[in-house]
Amino acid sequence: MTSGPSTERVLRVAVLGCGNVGASLVEILQDRADALAVQSGARLEVAGIAVRDLGAARPEHVPRTLLTDDAAALVADPGVDIVVELVGGLDPAGSLVRAALDAGRPVVTANKALLASSDGVALRSLARERRVDLLYEAAVAGAIPLVRALRESLTGERIHRVMGIVNGTTNFILTRMGEEGADFASVLAEAQSLGLAESDPTADVEGFDAAAKASILAGVAFGYDVSGDAVHREGITGIGAGEVDFARRAGYVVKLLAVLERWGADGLSVRVHPALVPAAHPLAGVRDAFNAVFIEGEAAGELMLYGEGAGGRPTASAVVGDLIDASRNLLAGTTAPAPDRQPAHLVPDADLVAGFYIGLDVADRPGVLGAVTTAFGANGVSIRSVEQEGGGARARLVFVTHLAREGDVRSTLSDLAELDVVDRIGGVLRIVGAV
Ligand SMILES: NC(=O)c1ccc[n+]([C@@H]2O[C@H](COP(=O)([O-])OP(=O)(O)OC[C@H]3O[C@@H](n4cnc5c(N)ncnc54)[C@H](OP(=O)(O)O)[C@@H]3O)[C@@H](O)[C@H]2O)c1
Repeated sequence: MTSGPSTERVLRVAVLGCGNVGASLVEILQDRADALAVQSGARLEVAGIAVRDLGAARPEHVPRTLLTDDAAALVADPGVDIVVELVGGLDPAGSLVRAALDAGRPVVTANKALLASSDGVALRSLARERRVDLLYEAAVAGAIPLVRALRESLTGERIHRVMGIVNGTTNFILTRMGEEGADFASVLAEAQSLGLAESDPTADVEGFDAAAKASILAGVAFGYDVSGDAVHREGITGIGAGEVDFARRAGYVVKLLAVLERWGADGLSVRVHPALVPAAHPLAGVRDAFNAVFIEGEAAGELMLYGEGAGGRPTASAVVGDLIDASRNLLAGTTAPAPDRQPAHLVPDADLVAGFYIGLDVADRPGVLGAVTTAFGANGVSIRSVEQEGGGARARLVFVTHLAREGDVRSTLSDLAELDVVDRIGGVLRIVGAV
């Protein structure tokens, strides 16, 4: 760091990773250098760019002379002031972030997998101990300024519930299924061809990515440490035309949601699952690969933040915001607020209460409806509506329940599975909002 008038100061930034996000970050730092110098109080100079493969093709704007395949040496360079980690994954990203924090260097990262891992807790503690920034706005919902809004603007707010569409790939798939009647496999293939889904889509469609983001939101919105593994997780691979069609007719939209809710005095529920969202709810209008997070607070009421949840440039934009924060804090000798966290008292799923959609493929003959509804009644699950689709030998029964304990619904489902008139439990979805 050099001294002198504020715009002549230089902070040297190590950029680890030059993929989708890293290359976009380098471009923004070049294109907007003067404006960013004014904002941060120092000229942000790229000290080096760590990559895995020095021979790989790079966009034109990436200076070849700054590339290195020795990320650890770049982090250890005493001339580096701030480290930006955009490598992704747990290893070596975790050890690189640890080395930077240990050396007293602020770190900006977009790595949700790392932050949601057990290492994430340790890294946040290390940052606090060393009084150094560890900033991660880009790790949840890309360009949407969510972490900072929760950590700063809403820091005095008692948040009751956060519900988010935090995975663009699955939102794109569900939007197309709902609007075009397309099936899951063909929309997934389309998303892959558009670059919206990975060739191995497991992390998105099985809800792992959303669970990592839910874990981070549990910390920033509620002050609880919840690891990604502890988040109840259901993906969208079981969603078929039946669910999507019922949703449309009944005034709902199917969405994959991360839902975090206070429960009782000190409980928290953190889960990721597909849900039926009433068509009039603001989250229902979030289409394609967009993300949105709906926040309900005690005094603030309802808020929704909406925007681009992924992509190189939107994500890099959030990284730049953190970089400016880290620069200002470094120059002022301070750090961003990082309140203490507590381990969460996670509510058992069985105790959660929701309305449920349950689709059953059954034999179409007298007495079937009676046998099925008896199973609901025996478990204390009250039916709000039932409709029958199809005729002939087999039919589909679609039940919507009143609010019911999830444990009671599960017992009902196991009783239903035992009935010989039930061929298949076709789909089970929670209903968000009024039932
Ligand atoms: N892409 C998005 O839309 C998005 C959105 C939000 C958050 N994020 C997060 O941002 C981070 C980066 O994502 P991305 O999409 O930019 O990933 P990416 O395109 O796969 O880029 C990863 C970069 O890291 C480099 N790298 C891998 N292993 C390395 C190692 N051992 N040492 C040094 N460099 C190494 C790679 O080098 P090579 O180029 O030589 O292979 C590549 O440049 C991830 O944590 C991701 O979860 C991404």
